[in-house]
Amino acid sequence: MRDPRLVANSLHAPTQVNRLTTAPERFHRTLPGYAPTPLVDAPHAAARLGVGTVRVKDESGRLGMPSFKVLGASWATYRVLLRHLGATVDEIPTLDALAQRVQGSGLRLCAATDGNHGRAVARMAQLLGLDAAILVPADMVPERISAIEAEGATVEIVDGGYDDAIMRSAAMASDTTLVVSDTSWEGYVDPPSWVVDGYSTMIAEILDQYRTQGVPAPTVVAAQIGVGAFAAAVARGFADSDSTRLVGVEPTQADCMTTSIETGSVTTIPGPQLSIMAGLNCGTPSLIAWPDVSSGYDSFVTITDDQVADAMRLMADDGIVSGESGAAGLGGLLAHRNALGLTPSDSVLVISTEGATDLASYRAIVGSTAASEADAKEMVR
Ligand SMILES: Cc1ncc(COP(=O)(O)O)c(C=O)c1O
Repeated sequence: MRDPRLVANSLHAPTQVNRLTTAPERFHRTLPGYAPTPLVDAPHAAARLGVGTVRVKDESGRLGMPSFKVLGASWATYRVLLRHLGATVDEIPTLDALAQRVQGSGLRLCAATDGNHGRAVARMAQLLGLDAAILVPADMVPERISAIEAEGATVEIVDGGYDDAIMRSAAMASDTTLVVSDTSWEGYVDPPSWVVDGYSTMIAEILDQYRTQGVPAPTVVAAQIGVGAFAAAVARGFADSDSTRLVGVEPTQADCMTTSIETGSVTTIPGPQLSIMAGLNCGTPSLIAWPDVSSGYDSFVTITDDQVADAMRLMADDGIVSGESGAAGLGGLLAHRNALGLTPSDSVLVISTEGATDLASYRAIVGSTAASEADAKEMVR
């Protein structure tokens, strides 16, 4: 494992970044329980970073789930099934209409996951009356496995890391087993590109919240990176904002995007990746995320587990329950604030992409006060 590092992006070319799409937002608004998630001020984080303001988009309660990932999983599931049925968005405009078409069809959804994506695909299968087969790496904590099973899915533990689970899911694809992956590989591109599109709803909410709060666009945005689909959506949202610097953040143990930037092309790092930032434990960037991420980001930084734990506690000081992957964006800025040259004139945006998805770990890291808030949130779900 390498030390934390900052890599300036020599591939930076923001004019080449794709732009946001709006179709998923119309679909998400029809889902039960849809509401924009909060964008909140984090004064403790601003003081520690030495910047003017920090705003946090809090994704710990998204459509009844503890992470933003359901936005991508729902839109991609919808589009995968439409394609399978040979139907258009106009012919089957809502999830209810889709459920009526697929119930009793014998179709099964399949996904590999390091936690949140698989749980979200399992939820979609349940809402549609379909079975789900979810493949997880060998190191997945029991709490995350139980959460996926609680959505009615069958979980298979794959011998190896996230990349091995992905390979297993690809091998399971058939006429009746439809793979809804959040990462892409040679020959498998549409579902993961729909996942990126699905995340655009969150970015559109953020831009709208900045507008309605009457504040200018952030000068610095940090996005945590697993395979890069989330970071690609963030890049699209800020591609037109010349005054915004984008920083990608990865665990030192799972630095596949940073390594790819250094080598100049998509590169696989040795696995398994075992950081506590489970959602970021990926060994290969997504092929469809790579163009937007490699063009959109000014720099990439890597952080240790201890550094993200520090960021989780800081989030808790500002009243935000943020899990290990959720706090990584803030962790990257904290760990590299001097090298990044953050100043009091900066306004920062970070996205807390998950709540306490591993409650025992959250309690051990953050302590009892914030943990009881996490307990309360857990009970609400
Ligand atoms: C909570 C959380 N944040 C961030 C990410 C990173 O997303 P991506 O894999 O698209 O880079 C993930 C991925 O699973 C996640 O679960």
